[in-house]
Amino acid sequence: MQQVARGLPRPVVLVPTMGALHEGHLSLVDRAKKLAGRKGSTVATIFVNPTQFGPGEDYRTYPRPFRRDCMYLRKKGCHLVFAPSPAQMYRSDASVVVSESQLGTVMCGASRPGHFTGVCTIVAKLFHLVQPDIAIFGEKDFQQLAILRRMVRDLDFPVRIVGHPIVREADGLALSSRNVYLSVEERQQAPLIQQALRDAETTLRMESISCRALENLVRRQIERGSLAKVDYVAVVDPETLQAKEPKELPVLLATAVFFGATRLIDNVLVK
Ligand code: PAJ
Repeated sequence: MQQVARGLPRPVVLVPTMGALHEGHLSLVDRAKKLAGRKGSTVATIFVNPTQFGPGEDYRTYPRPFRRDCMYLRKKGCHLVFAPSPAQMYRSDASVVVSESQLGTVMCGASRPGHFTGVCTIVAKLFHLVQPDIAIFGEKDFQQLAILRRMVRDLDFPVRIVGHPIVREADGLALSSRNVYLSVEERQQAPLIQQALRDAETTLRMESISCRALENLVRRQIERGSLAKVDYVAVVDPETLQAKEPKELPVLLATAVFFGATRLIDNVLVK
């Protein structure tokens, strides 16, 4: 891959994914193509990264429709797909990781210990292999984006990180490869997540409300869906991800919600 990468016309724009591509991923590819311009190259990676899944999570069952993914990417005009195997990416005695120690301690980092170390390590490896000028990540995984920006800043990666807005279904549910796990009833209740965050935005713009009260409001509204179990609701500073009173903008409202074993995340940035 490094040899191929050296021959690619620049700028090289990278879109890392775990596959099971949907319109959210494909909008990142569209953005990549725009940033690459007529001369540059667009590279997508498809790799279900074992080190970012915890024990008991869905690593084994994560959807892997590889041929369909490649067809979508070809249609979009993506120039190159890098889809290594786990054995190609990780030596059995690998002993070095990239670990972020502040932003990754809260929210999804608290619920999924080790997850962001897995993400940072694989993204660092992909950067070294593909040597992109620009890499694009979705704001749906807001914490991931913040942590990767920090990694690039603190370790001087010569890569520009670009964040891309969340792509949603017509009813507001954020697109996710995990939405296919939802039962019909769960799918019907899932738009409550986005509605609760939007309503919280309206509330905090209209009245002075504490961080705690706002979190409870969101939690209660989501759990009106009888099948929804809130993992966390966070009202935080979008830079530091530290809890923040929502009087002062900008503020990030973020949540993770279980429907059965399926864990969905979403967020709204209030500017
Ligand atoms: P994955 O979940 O496949 O997501 C790949 C990229 O698509 C991420 O940057 C994610 O934020 C973005 N994305 C997913 N759903 C989106 C949506 N509805 N709207 C906009 N962007 C969306 O995130 C990962 O993979 C992995 O952690 C990875 C970075 C590839 C490292 O393994």
